Amino acid sequence: MSRSIVITSGKGGVGKTTVTANLAYRLAVMGERVLAADGDLGLNNLDVAMGVEGKVSYDFFDCMEEKCRPKQAVVQSPWHKNLFVMPACFGKNRPSFADADMQAVINELSRLFDYVLLDCPAGVDAGFRRAVNCCNEALVVITPHISSIRDADKVVNIISETKKCPRIIVNKMRGDLSADGEILKPKEIAELLKTDLAGVIPEDDGIVSGMTLGRGRSGRAFSMLASNVHTGKARLYDCESRYLGFFGSIRRKLKRIL
Ligand SMILES: Nc1ncnc2c1ncn2[C@@H]1O[C@H](COP(=O)(O)OP(=O)(O)O)[C@@H](O)[C@H]1O
Ligand SMILES: [Mg+2]
Repeated sequence: MSRSIVITSGKGGVGKTTVTANLAYRLAVMGERVLAADGDLGLNNLDVAMGVEGKVSYDFFDCMEEKCRPKQAVVQSPWHKNLFVMPACFGKNRPSFADADMQAVINELSRLFDYVLLDCPAGVDAGFRRAVNCCNEALVVITPHISSIRDADKVVNIISETKKCPRIIVNKMRGDLSADGEILKPKEIAELLKTDLAGVIPEDDGIVSGMTLGRGRSGRAFSMLASNVHTGKARLYDCESRYLGFFGSIRRKLKRIL
């Protein structure tokens, strides 16, 4: 059965679009047919992370306005044969639409794919609620900073009211800082929010355009996240181990200086 998952957060800039693109790619590599849909209709940029900018003819708005069928707007990503994108092109003169219009598009797409991942706008206003209501499951992206955790707490509570059971992804994790006790560890964040962890992604300068295709540190962490999402398990990437022990303490000091 198809699964629709909204990727959300309280704060902007925590990595929703990056997680949507990379999780979609890793699920596609596992053999699933995956659609990443840009539900962040105001600040859309999923097309860039998925490598399809410039290839877009129809978009999410066109589907909701019934100018085209949802499958006509879907674009195949160059990163994998099983990976597809429903882009959004924010422009002038876009009419307002009802929640049911977005729901209808997601429902139709769910029939065509194993997974539909919906990149959600930040905040807790109408766009967020609409995206959450369209999907069966929710993942909340958090960075290990107090402001992000506080905002995520509100988001987790709102999602829980909809009877969905959200799981959290700690992104931009700094193992050197958690080893020094300067930021909370992922498990401590999960305990604070009384929510299960779906994955931990390290902060990685290699995430430039949004997509990591290789088997570097963040690539492995995204693979583990995809496997957890697919199986329901929670094998977590360990961001801290390389900063422990004698050589780890040298790495920690270097990280501070460089
Ligand atoms: N794990 C990470 N390590 C380093 N940079 C990251 C990571 N995740 C996201 N970023 C960067 O953070 C910025 C915001 O990410 P983005 O996915 O656009 O956030 P959002 O969609 O939540 O606004 C981007 O420049 C992105 O490349
Ligand atoms: Mg975004």
